[in-house]
Amino acid sequence: MHLHGRTALLTGASQGLGLALAFALARRGARLALVARREAPLHAAVRALRDEGFEAHALVGDVGDKLQSHRIAGAAAALLGPVDLLVHNASTLGPVPLRPLLDTDCESLDEALAVNVVGPFRLTKIVAGSMALRGDGTVLFVSSDAAVEAYPTWGAYGLSKAAADHMARIWAAELQGTNVTVASLDPGEMDTALHAAAMPDADRSALARPDAVARAIVDALADGRITTGARHTLSQLAVSR
Ligand SMILES: NC(=O)c1ccc[n+]([C@@H]2O[C@H](COP(=O)([O-])OP(=O)(O)OC[C@H]3O[C@@H](n4cnc5c(N)ncnc54)[C@H](OP(=O)(O)O)[C@@H]3O)[C@@H](O)[C@H]2O)c1
Repeated sequence: MHLHGRTALLTGASQGLGLALAFALARRGARLALVARREAPLHAAVRALRDEGFEAHALVGDVGDKLQSHRIAGAAAALLGPVDLLVHNASTLGPVPLRPLLDTDCESLDEALAVNVVGPFRLTKIVAGSMALRGDGTVLFVSSDAAVEAYPTWGAYGLSKAAADHMARIWAAELQGTNVTVASLDPGEMDTALHAAAMPDADRSALARPDAVARAIVDALADGRITTGARHTLSQLAVSR
C-alpha cells in the first residue's frame, strides 16, 4: 500500500502501539486521525506529531460507544477525506486483575465485546462501503496470541480478540474482488500500559518496544505484505521480508 498522502484512522492512538503506528505512518507521509477516550494524552500525541510537521487530528471518543463511532468516522472523513487505512488498535483487557471466566461478570464480557468486537465492526461498516466503491482501502485489526491460545484468566480479552480475527476473515471474504484488504495482525508482547495492567510482574526488559513493532508493521503495509484474509504475526512478517 502506497502511504504517501493517504489517510489513516487509528483507534487507541494516544499511547503504546497506536501512537507508535501514528509516527511510523506519518513518517511515510500518511495523514492521520487519532482516536482515544482521554483528551489530554490524545492532544499531547497530536501535538507531538504536529511538532514534527505531520498532519494529525485528535478525535476524542470511545470506540465501544455506538453514537461516538458515527461521530468519529464522520469527523475523520470531514478532516481528511475518505479513509484509506483503518487500524483497529484500541482494546480493553476486560476485568483487571485478569480472572477466570467463572469470576467474570457478564457486564465485563459485554464491555470487552463492545470495545474489541462491536466497535470495530461498526467502524468497519461505516468506512468499508466507501472503500469498496473506490476500489481501494485497508482495514487492519490488531490481534493478540490470546486470540489463538486458551490462556487461563485471559477469557474476556481472548475470546473477543478471537471473534475480531474471525470477523476480519469474513469481511475479507465478503469484500473479495473489491481491492479492499482486511487482515489481522498479532504484534507480540510489547512494553505498554496494557501489558503492565495484565502482567504487572513481567520483566519489561524482555518486551518489544512499540516503536520497533510499529515500524515493522508499517514496512509490511507499505511493501504489500499484509494480505487480505490473513492473520499475520509480527515474526512471520519479519521472516517473509
Ligand atoms: N502490549 C502487548 O503486549 C500486546 C500484545 C498483543 C496485542 N496487543 C494489542 O495491541 C493493541 C495496542 O495495545 P497497547 O498495548 O499499545 O495498549 P495501551 O498502551 O493500553 O494503549 C491503548 C490505547 O487505546 C485507547 N483506548 C482504550 N480503550 C479505548 C476505547 N474504548 N475507545 C478508544 N480508545 C481506547 C487508549 O487511550 P484511552 O485510555 O484514553 O482511551 C490508548 O490510546 C491492542 O489491540 C492490544 O490488544 C498488545
